[in-house]
Amino acid sequence: MRNSLQFIQAFLRNPSATGSLVPSSRFLIDRVLRNIDWDRARVIVELGPGLGCFTEQILSRMHPDAVLIAIDCNPEFTAILRRSFSDPRLHVVLSSATQVRDGLECAGLRSADCIVSGLPFANMPPAIRHEILQASLDVLRPDGSFVLFQYRKLLFPLLQTTFSSVDSDYEIRNFPPAHVFRCTVDPLRSAAKRRETSDALHTAGAPS
Ligand SMILES: C[S@@+](CC[C@H](N)C(=O)[O-])C[C@H]1O[C@@H](n2cnc3c(N)ncnc32)[C@H](O)[C@@H]1O
Repeated sequence: MRNSLQFIQAFLRNPSATGSLVPSSRFLIDRVLRNIDWDRARVIVELGPGLGCFTEQILSRMHPDAVLIAIDCNPEFTAILRRSFSDPRLHVVLSSATQVRDGLECAGLRSADCIVSGLPFANMPPAIRHEILQASLDVLRPDGSFVLFQYRKLLFPLLQTTFSSVDSDYEIRNFPPAHVFRCTVDPLRSAAKRRETSDALHTAGAPS
């Protein structure tokens, strides 16, 4: 109850960054998290955890050896998260989602199996949306996935151009009802991208 009040206060102070008046429902949480392969995922990133309704469920479902990096730009939320969870597998990072690579590096990691996002993309300038999706794609493993919910379908075209495939679903038992998207990375495309980057680095470093 106290957490819900803090969420409402955060929304009233900064509605566009907080994105919703109340935390996500358990129905939406289940619909999003059913897209994760819990046996395989060892590095999970959560973008925009807020007060931790997804965090709690991710920690209860993830493998004992897995790590969860939760990144939020609201210092009040990250302070509450640190106080609320004592699980050593959780690393709470106060930062923007554009800095997802730095967030992973804080925990000594370089890449993620899965990214779960609660970010209010619809309220962000298009350049920031694009930057966050690219930064996420860059740290995802070749068979990784990016799972998110959104109240509108606005982001769908950008998800389709960024990722290899996008599946969508819908959860009505949430306020407001939400679309759920599961985006995957194409191993061949990401291998080609890595080769291009490495070729470019070699060319840049090669004597002329
Ligand atoms: C709609 S709330 C979601 C909270 C929680 N995951 C839920 O589902 O109830 C959005 C969260 O994203 C955070 N946020 C917004 N923009 C962000 C950004 N650029 N980087 C990191 N966190 C951001 C907000 O502080 C807030 O905690």
